[in-house]
Amino acid sequence: MAETQGNDILVSFRGVQKSYDGENLIVKDLNLDIRKGEFLTLLGPSGSGKTTSLMMLAGFETPTAGEILLGGRAINKLPPHKRDIGMVFQNYALFPHMTVAENLAFPLSVRGMLKADIAERVKRALNMVQLEALAGRYPAQMSGGQQQRVALARALVFEPQLVLMDEPLGALDKQLREHMQMEIKHLHQRLGVTVVYVTHDQGEALTMSDRVAVFHQGEIQQIASPRDLYEQPCNAFVANFIGENNRINGRLVSRAGERCVVELPRGEQVEALAVRVGQPGEQVSLSVRPERVRINGHSSDCANRFSGRVAEFIYLGDHVRVRLEVAGQNNFFVKQPIAELDPALAVGDVVPLGWQVEHVRALDPLTAE
Ligand SMILES: Nc1ncnc2c1ncn2[C@@H]1O[C@H](COP(=O)(O)OP(=O)(O)OP(=O)(O)O)[C@@H](O)[C@H]1O
Ligand SMILES: [Mg+2]
Repeated sequence: MAETQGNDILVSFRGVQKSYDGENLIVKDLNLDIRKGEFLTLLGPSGSGKTTSLMMLAGFETPTAGEILLGGRAINKLPPHKRDIGMVFQNYALFPHMTVAENLAFPLSVRGMLKADIAERVKRALNMVQLEALAGRYPAQMSGGQQQRVALARALVFEPQLVLMDEPLGALDKQLREHMQMEIKHLHQRLGVTVVYVTHDQGEALTMSDRVAVFHQGEIQQIASPRDLYEQPCNAFVANFIGENNRINGRLVSRAGERCVVELPRGEQVEALAVRVGQPGEQVSLSVRPERVRINGHSSDCANRFSGRVAEFIYLGDHVRVRLEVAGQNNFFVKQPIAELDPALAVGDVVPLGWQVEHVRALDPLTAE
């Protein structure tokens, strides 16, 4: 983490806190550098402070403490319309009495742009979201996806350096949402604009972003590329929030450098990566992804070997999820590509299984919520 405000940093949150009631901190101590041109997503459960953080950046909420820098300049006192930020929200309604073209012209005319230039910009923006044919329509005459595309074009039409999007696809059905995800991502790549995107949909965050900041209770738990988040979660919250995860509780026996030994309740021992553990004797939770567990012959060269009783098969077309009873837990999942599944395997079978040390992470014990 470079402490210097390099030229490649567009936004910095420095020790930012927010309380609405003067008592509870909704945002606890936000320190975050957003790079120029990156697609950064704030991901987290409902109420974790994502919208609040975005609203402070937009200027609609004031930090209780700390400061926010935009292009190296403190903006705490700068009103929203002077921040040069485009915005798209889930229900950021278009002006209903204006046509699409008029909606797009609006941000330009309030900025005092000449009529001829406005027409040119509006045309380009319409072209960008492929809605030239609908320029004369009113919002009520368009589908939800088309309206959201207009909202997107309106946020980009004045060529802001930064665009904020808060659950912009939340109201759309799955298919349209996935289509728009790709459209927004490609638009970002083409324009090179910096995007800060908020969602509580992890699939959306992983597909679209350069980096994802995982929020929980007003704090960033981890900020990393989608792949690193998934492969290298830094704590139990992130391991469980992102993707599917087998969690096994145990107690730390010993630690040597990057590795450690954990004892399970029935006495079995697991050798794991010591990612976030305390002292010997303390509780830890082990995290193993279902696709990293090998079964039958594939498990013979694994450092950690167990046996499991097959409890259930769940067919998902291209792969099968096999639920097993392992080490006294009945909710242990193994993910197998269809082509690798042994057709003779049946419910009730006891099979050897295992995983490598580098695929099991020893993390903090997950507290119940
Ligand atoms: N204007 C407000 N006044 C008082 N409390 C608020 C206000 N806005 C948000 N909160 C509270 O702050 C917390 C965080 O809210 P925020 O909207 O930032 O969460 P979020 O992460 O965006 O959640 P979601 O995924 O549901 O949109 C919540 O507990 C919420 O009730
Ligand atoms: Mg929100």
